Amino acid sequence: MDKIIIEGSRPLNGTVPISGAKNAALPILAATLLAGGVHRLHNIPLLRDIRTAKTLLYHLGATFEEGDPLSVHTDNVDGQEAPYDLVKTMRASVLVLGPLVARFKKARVSLPGGCAIGARPINLHLGGLERLGVNIELKHGYVEASAKRLSGNHIYFDIPTVTGTANLMMAAVLAEGQTILENAAREPEVVELARCLISMGGSIQGAGTSVITIEGVSELRPMDHTIMPDRIEAATYLTAAGITRGSITITPCIPDHIEAVIHKLEQAGMEFQISDDSITGIGNEVIRGIDIKTNPYPGFPTDMQAQIMAMMCLAQGQSIITEKIFENRFMHVSELKRMGADISIEGNTAIVRGRPKLQGAPVMATDLRASASLVLAGLAAEGVTEVSRVYHLDRGYTLLEEKLSAVGARIDRVKE
Ligand code: EPU
Repeated sequence: MDKIIIEGSRPLNGTVPISGAKNAALPILAATLLAGGVHRLHNIPLLRDIRTAKTLLYHLGATFEEGDPLSVHTDNVDGQEAPYDLVKTMRASVLVLGPLVARFKKARVSLPGGCAIGARPINLHLGGLERLGVNIELKHGYVEASAKRLSGNHIYFDIPTVTGTANLMMAAVLAEGQTILENAAREPEVVELARCLISMGGSIQGAGTSVITIEGVSELRPMDHTIMPDRIEAATYLTAAGITRGSITITPCIPDHIEAVIHKLEQAGMEFQISDDSITGIGNEVIRGIDIKTNPYPGFPTDMQAQIMAMMCLAQGQSIITEKIFENRFMHVSELKRMGADISIEGNTAIVRGRPKLQGAPVMATDLRASASLVLAGLAAEGVTEVSRVYHLDRGYTLLEEKLSAVGARIDRVKE
């Protein structure tokens, strides 16, 4: 297994190119199942999760022509099963459920089970599909979904769920009549999927608000779509400028998508220069402690909680960080403490008392964003940090070492 070795305590300066958004690309790859033909996807990020999604599509009968754009041929898709091996590798595999049942009226998808950051049930995906007339049975660890036809309906989500909203949008787009999704997720990735479905001939209004209205159509055509820049990757590199007291320009990006993060980093003392498609984040010698609560978009993203916590370990004063989306997303805390951080946890709140320095140490993490937080801590720490279980990072950060080296980090990947 690979390890990342970082020699820290160096300010990072320069420009980092931002790749296509993982969490936009995953539902869009699933959406290719909705229409037979050749789909062209531009700016697909080169990530492990994307490879897993392609393996799943291949298993269902799709074929690919590699390159940018990536061509996805879906004429011969005839499979309807997402097996346990792929779903356990990547939970987002459940995104094929909506499209398969919409196109073939049948799907068999492994139940994902819990993961490192929480229980993460899919009850809201399943309840929503039932409202569209899909019969759902749970058998031997699999969801077996079947329908004679899908009929539009009102669906109210108890919690705004990102992939749940995506799954239901993809099912409803081919249902008969009107579907209204209430308390829908407002994340930019949902808006991006809606744009993509509209370009395929779907009729969707209100994406980006909490009420999405879908008028079903009988058929869709293949898409030609460019994936938007990854807002979490972008925000992670801005935090790298903050924690190392450097200056990093990220481009391309959509500044509106990371407004909540920028607002908090400003409170922490960073300065920003913002243009249409780039942001320069300038770190300040003094990092101020700040309070953060994660929330659904447009609130502060849970996917940035671990990274900002690493920065707060070096702040003057105390920070209170409350995780409101996932019940177990503090796995990075004990590793940050091994680097000298002073953090205590009470329920879903972490109290971070800033210290002048962190020390490099061997660390490991159990999920993607926790790993990113340890890399950030390592970039600022004195001495050498070794981050193991690098495969987590490879799920969500394209060319991480190359991008960080180019702005002055001493970072290497070695085989363990
Ligand atoms: N929830 C339910 N029932 C459901 C669905 C969700 O109770 O049927 C709960 C979850 O347990 C959680 C909350 O609702 O407490 C919100 O979860 P959501 O469904 O929105 O999360 P997700 O769709 O599984 C996506 C991203 C995550 C990101 C979350 C929150 C993708 C592929 N994944 O997950 O990304 O953290 O939204 O913004 O889009 C990551 O990229 O590192 C990552 C984990």
